[in-house]
Amino acid sequence: MNEKGTEFRGFFGGAGYDRLANVMGMGPSYYDAAIGELNLPEGAEVLDLGCGTGSLGIALAKRYGAVSQVRGVDISDDQLRHARNKSEEVSCPFSFYNCSMDELDFPDSTFDVVVTSMALHETPSAVRRGAIREVSRVLKTGGVFVLIEWSRPRFGLLGMLWLPFLFFGDWRDNWNNRYAELCLEQGLSREHDSYINSLARRQVFVKK
Ligand SMILES: C[S@@+](CC[C@H](N)C(=O)[O-])C[C@H]1O[C@@H](n2cnc3c(N)ncnc32)[C@H](O)[C@@H]1O
Repeated sequence: MNEKGTEFRGFFGGAGYDRLANVMGMGPSYYDAAIGELNLPEGAEVLDLGCGTGSLGIALAKRYGAVSQVRGVDISDDQLRHARNKSEEVSCPFSFYNCSMDELDFPDSTFDVVVTSMALHETPSAVRRGAIREVSRVLKTGGVFVLIEWSRPRFGLLGMLWLPFLFFGDWRDNWNNRYAELCLEQGLSREHDSYINSLARRQVFVKK
């Protein structure tokens, strides 16, 4: 991990990432469940933090015709290159930026929806906190933040498969789901909380 987080590159980036993610239970049905049901305004502006190869934003744009643009940020050029290629199949415009999620170069109140999937835990504690501050800044009032992260695993094959990985790095925010408090501190109140599999927890916050 560098000072901003783990950059997924080489074997772990691009098409290789997608293959591994699929094996680890993050295939199309994962991204569908991660999006869940959202009430989007017409012309919705979407931001994906730690977008990786863009799978979440692409699934979202395919499902909701109301989306006018999706932007994704990641610190890995390998991931962003593959995301750009994949997004060419989708009619909705996509833009990808190499930038850390705690230093967003977007004006205040730009987005209707910010999403993030399995990326916060790849960053150091200070970056996670900075990212949640940034989410609150760039979201419009009434905008939603969809946060998917692993949390204390429930029983099930997937939970068991992941268990060894959960003991690397600083996992306390995830295990104890500190994200709910961190979001609340930034004016984001939780409207939804559920597991989408034995490990991945989907929480939806609204900026009041
Ligand atoms: C496990 S992958 C998840 C990718 C994608 N969100 C998904 O669900 O498939 C974590 C991603 O976070 C990126 N990342 C790590 N630290 C970051 C940071 N500080 N800012 C933005 N992206 C970061 C990595 O390069 C990697 O692509």
